[in-house]
Amino acid sequence: MDFKKDPRFEGIKPFEKKVWLSSPTVHGDEQHWVDEAIRTNWISTVGENIDAIEQQVAGYIGCKYAVAVSCGTAALHLATKLAGERLYGQAKPNAGTLAGRKVFAADMTFDASINPIAYEDGEAVFIDTERDTWNMDPQALEKAFEIYPDVKLIVVAHLYGTPGRMAQIKRIADAHGALIVEDAAESLGAKYRLNGEWVETGTLGQYNVISFNGNKVITGSSGGMFLTDSRADAEKVRKWSTQSREAAPWYQHEEIGYNYRMSNIVAGIVRGQLPYLDAHIDQKRRIWERYEKGLADLPVRMNPWDRQDSMPNFWLSCCIIDEDAMAPTVRGEQDYLWQTEPGKSSPHEILEAISAFNAEGRPIWKPMHMQPIYRTNPFVTAEGNGRGRTNAYIKGVGVDVGADIFRRGLCLPSDNKMTEEQQAQIIEIIHRCFM
Ligand SMILES: Cc1ncc(COP(=O)(O)O)c(C=O)c1O
Repeated sequence: MDFKKDPRFEGIKPFEKKVWLSSPTVHGDEQHWVDEAIRTNWISTVGENIDAIEQQVAGYIGCKYAVAVSCGTAALHLATKLAGERLYGQAKPNAGTLAGRKVFAADMTFDASINPIAYEDGEAVFIDTERDTWNMDPQALEKAFEIYPDVKLIVVAHLYGTPGRMAQIKRIADAHGALIVEDAAESLGAKYRLNGEWVETGTLGQYNVISFNGNKVITGSSGGMFLTDSRADAEKVRKWSTQSREAAPWYQHEEIGYNYRMSNIVAGIVRGQLPYLDAHIDQKRRIWERYEKGLADLPVRMNPWDRQDSMPNFWLSCCIIDEDAMAPTVRGEQDYLWQTEPGKSSPHEILEAISAFNAEGRPIWKPMHMQPIYRTNPFVTAEGNGRGRTNAYIKGVGVDVGADIFRRGLCLPSDNKMTEEQQAQIIEIIHRCFM
């Protein structure tokens, strides 16, 4: 469909410069710290930039230790491995610490949150999502413990920078003696009120992770961190991330190692970005609020958050179309078809319209239980087992909240550098989709 020729979009001109979903926003300080690393010849995986950002991030987050690694995925791998080793002991070099074990996992997240369960030979059991924060549903988690009472590890994420229901999840975890890996990759700077006290995401599990990927609220071009209050865990992650060398004059190894440490050059970029974290969050919040206001007269709602006990970092602004305003859409594994109807629209119509005028949105992250790679893994909803619930002889199917949000939702252009005028035009394009 050619949106530029569609009379509904008359008068709208494409943006000259692309408006991105969420791209790096550089300020200049980054150059200074990168130059300093090069000038002083510290361009490997040791150096002042690494030391500085480990201290600064630990200070900002309010944890004792931060260990800088090459990416959030690496941090998640080592976090998951640490949990596996604490629960089940050291594994042989050719086996994962979670071999033969099940792990409860966030379903609406990016697959990097939960792939480390598979790296460690465990099996993810996906827990359905609740509608109020689009994160792990505590009720479904309770159900999962009824079905699999032996599980001892839970991997949670804070989708799009919105904290999940962590007080309930922690209570359930404690009741079952389970540990938590917290993936705060998307939520750096988001706050949560736990037992009456405001804390940062990244302090809410036993093993916590953030990311400095290029699309995140601040970036090192890549990079991630493991966050903890445990000195022993911080030292272990530092050792594993630098090939697990033992105290010997030659290369000696008692544990499997990884080359996961952050470079001092990447750390220089993070060092230059850190002073702007709060400013970026403020810009993201204002983008979210402008969408909320601008779309208020349409049959859509913004991605929700717990306004009493959380303050997201608003990394991505998203919306979900009301059921009765959804135009027909069919999705295959790699393609889709949509139709337009007056007064209705669909995620793909909106995404294509935005794209035709040179702006970038994205479908909601496809839930993990729907991914081909994980389609045979267990999935638990608030009603119990989420697999095999349709019945040829009984009308209606059970709830699958994640699938529903994926079907009706979309991520909107959320770049810090988007101007108010550009955002107003995007809001106008969305209105025209419903004409
Ligand atoms: C929820 C989530 N977890 C983990 C990651 C992985 O982080 P990285 O790209 O730094 O490896 C990302 C995004 O990149 C993410 O969005």
